[in-house]
Amino acid sequence: MRFKYTISLVFIVALVIIEKENNIISRVSEKLTPKQSPPTSLEPSDSVPESVQGLLKANGSYFTMKRRLENYTEDRSDIMAGNRKHILLLATTRTGSSFVGEFFNQQGDNMFYLFEPLWHVERSLTLETGGTNATACARAYQEVLKGLFLCDFTPLESFIDPLPVGHVTTALFRRESSSSLCEETVCSPFVKKVYERYRCRTRKCGPLNLTLASESCQQKMHRVIKSVRVRQLETLRPLAEDPHLDVKFIQLVRDPRAVLASRMVAFHYRYKTWKKWAVDGDVPIDDDEVKKLKGNCDTIRMSAEVGLSQPSWLRERYMLVRYEDIARFPMRKAAEMYEFTGIPFTPQVKEWILKNTQASTEASGVYSTQKNSSEQVEKWRFNIPYKLVQVVQEACGSTLKLFGYRFVNSEEMLRDKSISLIEEKYFVQDTS
Ligand SMILES: *[C@@H]1O[C@H](CO)[C@@H](O)[C@H](O)[C@H]1NC(C)=O
Ligand SMILES: *[C@@H]1O[C@H](CO)[C@@H](O)[C@H](O)[C@H]1NC(C)=O
Ligand SMILES: *[C@@H]1O[C@H](CO)[C@@H](O)[C@H](O)[C@H]1NC(C)=O
Ligand SMILES: *[C@@H]1O[C@H](CO)[C@@H](O)[C@H](O)[C@H]1NC(C)=O
Ligand SMILES: *[C@@H]1O[C@H](CO)[C@@H](O)[C@H](O)[C@H]1NC(C)=O
Repeated sequence: MRFKYTISLVFIVALVIIEKENNIISRVSEKLTPKQSPPTSLEPSDSVPESVQGLLKANGSYFTMKRRLENYTEDRSDIMAGNRKHILLLATTRTGSSFVGEFFNQQGDNMFYLFEPLWHVERSLTLETGGTNATACARAYQEVLKGLFLCDFTPLESFIDPLPVGHVTTALFRRESSSSLCEETVCSPFVKKVYERYRCRTRKCGPLNLTLASESCQQKMHRVIKSVRVRQLETLRPLAEDPHLDVKFIQLVRDPRAVLASRMVAFHYRYKTWKKWAVDGDVPIDDDEVKKLKGNCDTIRMSAEVGLSQPSWLRERYMLVRYEDIARFPMRKAAEMYEFTGIPFTPQVKEWILKNTQASTEASGVYSTQKNSSEQVEKWRFNIPYKLVQVVQEACGSTLKLFGYRFVNSEEMLRDKSISLIEEKYFVQDTS
């Protein structure tokens, strides 16, 4: 927002200068009568006589100004015409959100995609106990997200550690996962050698200049942010109601039994209690870990219940997607998501999906190293003791039910791949 105001301010100043030149020129040429156009009319070509335009054209700065202004007007009218979209992809860890995020990251030149910017916020608001103050976090998330959707990095900057110097940082979490942050226009031309933990892989880019990132963001039509950190959808209501934004939420969920199996592998250390139980076969049912699991399941379910109940503030702004459906029918689900967002489903995305899911048989073959994503869906059933599956079913029963994940009642059923644990369920999005 601030950026836009700066542009308009700069333009007003420019108009004043142009007016002055008008006066000088009109003294020598009677043909020219300076028009009293208000600077807010945002129509430079009308307010500047042709000869003056010619004069300024030579300099070029007028053109730059005019283009910036066009971008600014386009920006506003796009929001008003409902063209510009702000999408928040909400998930929890190990639900395939990085993969689904790629559906948007690969969209092309009109997309500004950010991967987990809230990582910084959560990190700096983490208390000594290891937990976070949910109220404080929710407020900060909302503020940072709003800034980012409007291409303003300043709210985020205050959470980056170490603090960016002159809006330049080497510490933006997983920068390389946002292709928008590794584009030519965002790269600093003269790069001093410094250590960058999160450096671009596609090109030599140097530390991230957030001023350039913001400028690049302004040029893009759509903005997508992925986050596994927002807990309650309801806390984002102010974003949905913000007149400067057109936010839609996609909530990505996955079978909690599969999530646990996956986390036990990925977050080895944090899940060592579960691993111990897996070996011992004995789970104390009122253990804190089980309570935490139940709490997580409930949080996800409650957000989904809010979304699916279609309160007026979420009308046409919420979509629920199951990881399992994306893995089994990636192209179809991607098309549905794009339709929901109102963003064009580009050939680049389709190509990426084909390449990375083997969605079509053409992409398969003995030499392919890509995962068969349909096959991946069932893998967890062989990686987790039945005992732990029972614990999850106990703690997350209503969540399983809501999302259409079938309960297993024996180890044989768990391991029998001919029995699907995914009910065919369509989560109706009212778009009327
Ligand atoms: C063009 O305008 C800029 C300021 O907008 C000025 O600094 C520069 O000297 C001008 N260049 C020429 C060639 O007149
Ligand atoms: C205005 O936007 C276009 C494309 O969206 C871009 O090429 C151009 O550089 C922008 N102009 C300025 C001055 O930012
Ligand atoms: C959490 O943060 C809010 C707002 O900063 C504060 O009012 C509240 O006291 C905090 N709660 C706890 C338990 O620290
Ligand atoms: C970052 O980019 C802005 C805009 O181009 C520029 O004015 C600024 O000098 C850059 N900062 C650094 C440290 O290069
Ligand atoms: C992927 O795996 C599924 C399940 O095993 C199988 O039906 C499908 O044919 C496989 N697809 C490809 C392209 O290999």
